[in-house]
Amino acid sequence: MLLQIPDVLTSEQVAYCRRLLEESNWIDGRVTAGPQSGQVKNNQQLPEDHPAGREMGDLILAALERNPLFMAAALPAKVFPPLFNRYAGGQSFGNHVDNAIRQVSGTPHRIRTDLSATLFFAGPEEYEGGELVVEDTYGAHSVKLPPGHLILYPSTSLHHVRPVTQGARICSFFWIQSMVRDDGERTLMFDLDMAIQRLSEEAPQHPSVVGLTAVYHNLLRRWADV
Ligand code: NI
Repeated sequence: MLLQIPDVLTSEQVAYCRRLLEESNWIDGRVTAGPQSGQVKNNQQLPEDHPAGREMGDLILAALERNPLFMAAALPAKVFPPLFNRYAGGQSFGNHVDNAIRQVSGTPHRIRTDLSATLFFAGPEEYEGGELVVEDTYGAHSVKLPPGHLILYPSTSLHHVRPVTQGARICSFFWIQSMVRDDGERTLMFDLDMAIQRLSEEAPQHPSVVGLTAVYHNLLRRWADV
């Protein structure tokens, strides 16, 4: 499932991060790529231990915890500390799949990448190109979102970033290990959750609200690893 999550960050938070990002020194993005994706990756990143990156990462993680749509869709077990990248001057990232397992640098912690996330900091009008293109069984989806908005997609998908021919594309990117590792099962949980929420708004006294909520939790009990 490909899902847009609007307004993860407020415009004030975006503006604050933009100031930090503009003052930061960027390095070659190949530092976090494997040998295969390293051949097609051409962008810049903040170093993983960059203090401004850590500060903004914590801000993003706190915002995600307060975001009901993200929590319902991702059912997160662990979230990788957010990283930051920048594409300009024709830079792009060719077709690749993200590594299945990622070590959190400087720690013994590893996460399995079930979901990939991109959070946009630059507005679509600030740069040409730079679409994130995600392939799934329905075809290729091209994504370019307003600042503060996030796209969530299964890490099993092939994806690429089209060349940025003018301006600069600045984003945060990170991965989520979900309590429900299978995308199909996780999508069912999300669809059921959304349907229960609609029903409980429109017919709060209906006994099916409790019945379906029980089904939701019993499916989660069956499928979740915590
Ligand atoms: Ni990727």
